[in-house]
Amino acid sequence: MQRIESAATQKAHIESEDTDSKAAAPNMSIQRQGKLIVGNCVDVMRGWPDNMVHLTVTSPPYDKLRDYKGYDFPFEEIADELFRVTAPGGVLVWIVGDRIDGGRSLTSFRQAIYFQEIGFSAHDIMIYQKKNTPFMRSNAYTNAYEMMFVLSKGKPATFNPLKVPTQRHGYELLTHNKLPDGINKKKLGQLKKEKTRTNIWSYAVGLGGTTNDKIAFQHPAVFPEKLAADHILSWSDPGDLVLDPMCGSGTTGKMALLNDRDFIGIDISSDYIEIARKRLLQSGFKAIVRSSA
Ligand SMILES: C[S@@+](CC[C@H](N)C(=O)[O-])C[C@H]1O[C@@H](n2cnc3c(N)ncnc32)[C@H](O)[C@@H]1O
Repeated sequence: MQRIESAATQKAHIESEDTDSKAAAPNMSIQRQGKLIVGNCVDVMRGWPDNMVHLTVTSPPYDKLRDYKGYDFPFEEIADELFRVTAPGGVLVWIVGDRIDGGRSLTSFRQAIYFQEIGFSAHDIMIYQKKNTPFMRSNAYTNAYEMMFVLSKGKPATFNPLKVPTQRHGYELLTHNKLPDGINKKKLGQLKKEKTRTNIWSYAVGLGGTTNDKIAFQHPAVFPEKLAADHILSWSDPGDLVLDPMCGSGTTGKMALLNDRDFIGIDISSDYIEIARKRLLQSGFKAIVRSSA
């Protein structure tokens, strides 16, 4: 992917302070550093230059479904800033569910349409299927998924398709294309060993599924590490800058750093940023923390 701003240039924009480098275990290998910022992501992003983020993987608060310590959620301003800071060819993965109270709120769709109106391409609408703890309803089928809107600024610059093994592979007599004579001919051909995944991704949730990091569950709405990693691997390359503007317990950050990407996480709650900082440290990554205030 084309690098719009070097990491060094980004550092100049995001002044930081090292709060706890001594807390890392002495033998721990410190590799890439994460940056964590306490603040309203709109205010934080407003201080950044255009086009600096290669990939955003984030999950906003859903329709005030949970209490996130008094957050302020100006959706349209967040969307506008995300569009501005995304690099041409960059991708935003917006993972969201609807409040179900009688019927569905449809907030997810309204948000997706707004993203399209401001210039994002609706590159794909993927499904995050939960293998367990689905939300049961007495008068509708059990809800077991959330949306993953994959939005791109122009054509995605990076796509590294994740593969799954095919059911059968090896040599087989395959049906040859029908010619005008109408006769099906068989031809010896090789079935591929793997194929590109579908756009429905399933994950187990809860301790052991979402993550093994107990500390993460001090946050009320953690998404699976594997989900974040799968998007990071698909839509970015090593060295790219990955953002989570509402990073909660730091799931996107952990997986970005483990996969050799740079990471900036923002959360309005200093308590959640502290959880993210400790979690990154447990994974061997020193995080630099600052407040936007
Ligand atoms: C669904 S949670 C994200 C959880 C995260 N994906 C994880 O795995 O831990 C949404 C987060 O958005 C944060 N938040 C809400 N409004 C915000 C804002 N305006 N700016 C920054 N963070 C915000 C909340 O504090 C909350 O931690």
